[in-house]
Amino acid sequence: MGHDVRRISAAETHPLRQAILRPHQDEGAVRWPGDDAADTVHFGAFAGGRLVGVGTLLREAPKGSSDPRAWRLRGMATHPDVRGQGHGAAIVRAALEHARAQGATRMWFNARTSAVPFYEKLGFVRSGHEFFVPDAGPHYYMDVRL
Ligand SMILES: CC(C)(COP(=O)(O)OP(=O)(O)OC[C@H]1O[C@@H](n2cnc3c(N)ncnc32)[C@H](O)[C@@H]1OP(=O)(O)O)[C@@H](O)C(=O)NCCC(=O)NCCS
Repeated sequence: MGHDVRRISAAETHPLRQAILRPHQDEGAVRWPGDDAADTVHFGAFAGGRLVGVGTLLREAPKGSSDPRAWRLRGMATHPDVRGQGHGAAIVRAALEHARAQGATRMWFNARTSAVPFYEKLGFVRSGHEFFVPDAGPHYYMDVRL
């Protein structure tokens, strides 16, 4: 099945981000630094005209690096009604395509431990120790070299 992934605004990501990633906080908690940076890209997956998934790609080096060609994926969330239908993977692929087109050296993120197998299927590799993010739980650093 083909997926419908389009670029959306930062504001359009907020309702799904909040409902799925920060359900115990208000909408202010899902406005993140870099959201409005000139080269930040927000992706939305649509099903039947409805926005069902979001993800954001921004130029940012991981901790301990200053690589200007590293890109970070953030705020990945798909609506529980449509999980397992490929929308999340379609967003990640769109982000990878964009990062490659920008000459990225790697794409990285802090993955929720529960989502690590999802990202492994897409070729990302986990490294380091599990760490805890306040309000978001246990995570691993993951990345892929491009
Ligand atoms: C993680 C998330 C974005 C995945 O979105 P999705 O639309 O369900 O993902 P897809 O349908 O594209 O999944 C692609 C493949 O990964 C599998 N998969 C998805 N989530 C998985 C998980 N948590 N564990 C194991 N496998 C998973 C799917 O079954 C599918 O397998 P297939 O290729 O064999 O069919 C979604 O489950 C979500 O929003 N979770 C809650 C928020 C969250 O954890 N976000 C990530 C923060 S880092």
